[in-house]
Amino acid sequence: MCGIIGYIGVEEKATNMIMEGLSKLEYRGYDSAGIAIFTPSGICVEKTKGKLVNLADHLAQIGFPQGYAGIGHTRWATHGEPSDVNAHPHWSQDHSVVVVHNGIIENYAQLREELIAAGDTFLSDTDTEIIPHIIARYYREDKDPVQAISRAIQRMRGSYALGIMFADRPGELYAARKDSPLIVGLGQNENYIASDIPAVLAHTRDVYLLEDYDIAILNTEEIRIVDLEGNPVHREIFHVTWDVASAEKGGFPHFMLKEIHEQPHVVRETLASRLQENMDAPKMDDLGISKEVLDGLERIYMVACGTAYHAAMVGKYLIERVARLSTIVETASEFRYRDPIIDEKTLVIVVSQSGETADTLAALRMSKQAGAKVLGIVNVVGSSISREADYVFYTWAGPEIAVASTKAYSCQLAAMYLLTAHFALLRGKMTPQEFHDLKGDLIGLPAKIGEILKKEEEIKAIVDSVDPLNVFYVGRGLDYYTGMEGSLKLKEIAYLHSEAYAAGELKHGPIAMIEPGTLVIGIVTQKSLIEKTVSNLKEVKARGAQVLCITTEDADLALIQSVADQMITIPDCNWMFTSLLANIPQQLLAYYMSVKKGYDVDKPRNLAKSVTVE
Ligand code: AGP
Repeated sequence: MCGIIGYIGVEEKATNMIMEGLSKLEYRGYDSAGIAIFTPSGICVEKTKGKLVNLADHLAQIGFPQGYAGIGHTRWATHGEPSDVNAHPHWSQDHSVVVVHNGIIENYAQLREELIAAGDTFLSDTDTEIIPHIIARYYREDKDPVQAISRAIQRMRGSYALGIMFADRPGELYAARKDSPLIVGLGQNENYIASDIPAVLAHTRDVYLLEDYDIAILNTEEIRIVDLEGNPVHREIFHVTWDVASAEKGGFPHFMLKEIHEQPHVVRETLASRLQENMDAPKMDDLGISKEVLDGLERIYMVACGTAYHAAMVGKYLIERVARLSTIVETASEFRYRDPIIDEKTLVIVVSQSGETADTLAALRMSKQAGAKVLGIVNVVGSSISREADYVFYTWAGPEIAVASTKAYSCQLAAMYLLTAHFALLRGKMTPQEFHDLKGDLIGLPAKIGEILKKEEEIKAIVDSVDPLNVFYVGRGLDYYTGMEGSLKLKEIAYLHSEAYAAGELKHGPIAMIEPGTLVIGIVTQKSLIEKTVSNLKEVKARGAQVLCITTEDADLALIQSVADQMITIPDCNWMFTSLLANIPQQLLAYYMSVKKGYDVDKPRNLAKSVTVE
């Protein structure tokens, strides 16, 4: 998520205030930064790749002015590599408007073409740069900043939090938002814009939490908030009681819980950019995998580590089951040393949140050296894997700060769903009409995640009611792979021994481990397999296990309850997508178990967020 800060005041200290505000947002993760300030000779813009200190050094070197008003930005790249030119703020063609942005403009390509046809030229690879261009175009027509912003907003599809400056209005700052958070801070003879409360907490605890389609107009004395028609809207002042640490977590006690709750938004962002309203196929042409390429392949490997490996297992299952395409999944640390068969008829798909995992990067390099094409499914733009892969599918989970991966995994699954559909359509295993129906199911996923998150207290109560020494996650088919991720979460943040097992395999040995006090978590979402899994659960129950089931609301709940001591239901959904939904309770189970044990949820012992060494 990008960081936004805006300041307007009666003292000439805007640059210092903005740089201070950006430093309070550094925890969010970013790869470049920039600032725009009103000066007597017009708006000055400076921006640099890398850390905030690079910008600070640059501003000091050139004697950048302080000014009375301006906006600043730290960029978490989505469209366009981290670079000076891709950093925000961005200018309009005529330098009448400057903008900083957090979010994703899904229809930026279409708007960019329209603006180019009208004579505009663009400097960056970002989606953001179309925003000042289109606002300026309407400002030239209307000469009314609010109307120009409103008209521009109504043309854009996607998410945005905007800080906006008009060169001929030095006494004002403008802000607007949809889907990306943005606040307005109330000061004494000064006011603020920020993407997050920590940026302004040192100066004010009174803020307006802008709502979707709000437009705010700030000067040193007044803050006005209007709707798209320019009519005043009333917003209550929110008085912040959090300290800085909890403000960085958005009021959540841990980054992990904040990131669990970000999943509806980030899954929507990851899906939306590739689900075109009027097209019955996902937008995947940037992945370089055409029907010819696919038909020319003799094998597909999916290679990853940890949670990303579990996402790959789900991807494999779906690609084989739906696209009828054989896919081999391996952990990168094994793949890179077993001399696998790789040649130019091989596609290797590497999955990595950080894009820096040593084993996964090594597997990529080995594969390319052997002539394979490599597709990277990566969350961090500009990371080593994203730069070295032949093609990249970016997940848009935003910076994932907690060591335990949650929202990135859900976005990796979203990527697998689209990849499965893409392969199936290319191979004639899915019709456009079938994808049309599937698209509806995909679009409905974020809301279903939100429904499950409402069960947080119910899930916490379940954690409070158990105290297991060992935990088994069991399931069949996709449910088995889902359990792998649940088991890893419990291990890595609650330090509790657990393992995921194919339910049908228990009787081939592991059932000897079952004794009173063993907690067995049955993931039972695959309707065709429910009876078999329930009978496996009856076997463990008969030997003293506590049984917790995760199942769908439309399952045969009487059958489930015949074996479950406790049950968590998830909304009905397309069978393909249960791994994403069933994992939300697993995330919360692990989270609350870690909290119950008093462990460091966000920074668990012995672990690093990115394993950049073997
Ligand atoms: C997940 O919760 C863990 N932090 C870990 O397994 C992680 O998924 C693994 O190290 C891979 O990281 P990557 O996705 O950044 O490559």
